[in-house]
Amino acid sequence: MPSKSFKDLLSAEESLFRNPEVFDPDYVPEEYLHREAQMRSIAACIKPALRGERPLNALIHGPPATGKTTAMRKLFEELEDIPEARRIAGVHINCQITATKFGIFSLIHKAVVGHLPPETGVPFSKVYEAIFRKLRRERRVLLVVLDDMDHLFHDRYANEVLYDILRAHEVFPGVKTAIFSIVSGTEFLYKLADRVRSMFRAQEIYFPPYSAGEMYDILKRRAELGFFPGVISDELVEKIASYAYEHGDLRLGIELLKVSALTAESHASRKIEEEHLEEAYAKASTATLRSLVEPLSVQEKLLLRLLCEAEQGITSGRLYERFSAVERLSYTKFYRILRKLEELRLVETRPVSGEGRGRSREIFLRPSREELLKVLPCE
Ligand SMILES: Nc1ncnc2c1ncn2[C@@H]1O[C@H](COP(=O)(O)OP(=O)(O)OP(=O)(O)O)[C@@H](O)[C@H]1O
Ligand SMILES: [Mg+2]
Repeated sequence: MPSKSFKDLLSAEESLFRNPEVFDPDYVPEEYLHREAQMRSIAACIKPALRGERPLNALIHGPPATGKTTAMRKLFEELEDIPEARRIAGVHINCQITATKFGIFSLIHKAVVGHLPPETGVPFSKVYEAIFRKLRRERRVLLVVLDDMDHLFHDRYANEVLYDILRAHEVFPGVKTAIFSIVSGTEFLYKLADRVRSMFRAQEIYFPPYSAGEMYDILKRRAELGFFPGVISDELVEKIASYAYEHGDLRLGIELLKVSALTAESHASRKIEEEHLEEAYAKASTATLRSLVEPLSVQEKLLLRLLCEAEQGITSGRLYERFSAVERLSYTKFYRILRKLEELRLVETRPVSGEGRGRSREIFLRPSREELLKVLPCE
């Protein structure tokens, strides 16, 4: 058979994808599964706004990839179909991208007034006034979703932003505002200034991690939408769900569906075989490992390197001896590094059995040595 040209290889006929966009990070799933309780709580917060009253503030929290952002996207999408929702001026802000007070109020201005304010030459007070005068005139209720709000704390804007939105009714009586803040943990509440915390009384809505079965359902549905029939077997979707569950990361599962299919395509296969998944998983896990290891300090990397050279189950005492032969560091500081590596799930430690061993632990590397050495820079 003559060898194929690039044109053949790139042609749509070779594709296993029916709808490649369903694997994109910003895809909003048609079916949002296993989040009925959270959707009910969110709806309860919004409901007063449909009668022109103030919605309840919400504090939406949970680990990564548990569907928090998706819940908001679905909410805004569905509000478009509800006539009474015209009373709501809603805006969903990604604080990783827009992390300044002016940036945030510019987006609110756009949602309420219809366009962004000029970038320069307009004082904040003018932008603020334009927003709330218009809201009051139109008797609309403002709902601001601050997604990944933790990022506002890096620049200390969180207090000011919350304060300026929540106290708007004092300056413009009759104005009604609410905030939905999305964060990974609730610790941020303690970082708020007292005056702001007392204003920001919010309904807590928790998004727990998905179970392996829930991940399977979500991934199976995504595969059905994204691939032509017969491209992936249920067993392989199950395997992908178990990898995603092990890592506590549904996004990894979605990525594995996509990369396994691309790998299958590159081998000119009409369906995904187990070896394509394994190849995709190896690539994905190296990338994840690299993102964990790269930001570590020199001492933290040194400890990882020593662990690669040591036998599995080495005791913390012996590891400290080896570590202090290279680097002068107190045992307490050494132990702190060990705890950090454990929190990052790079190592696992177990108490040494037997009496009188104090806090001596046995240490096990979680990734394989070979995997880890691939991403650890040479000394
Ligand atoms: N219940 C669900 N049904 C279908 N797809 C889902 C569901 N939950 C999450 N997803 C998918 O998982 C991915 C991550 O979801 P999302 O971005 O909503 O998570 P998140 O909780 O906002 O994460 P982070 O805290 O990292 O921002 C998205 O691709 C989304 O489509
Ligand atoms: Mg999110």
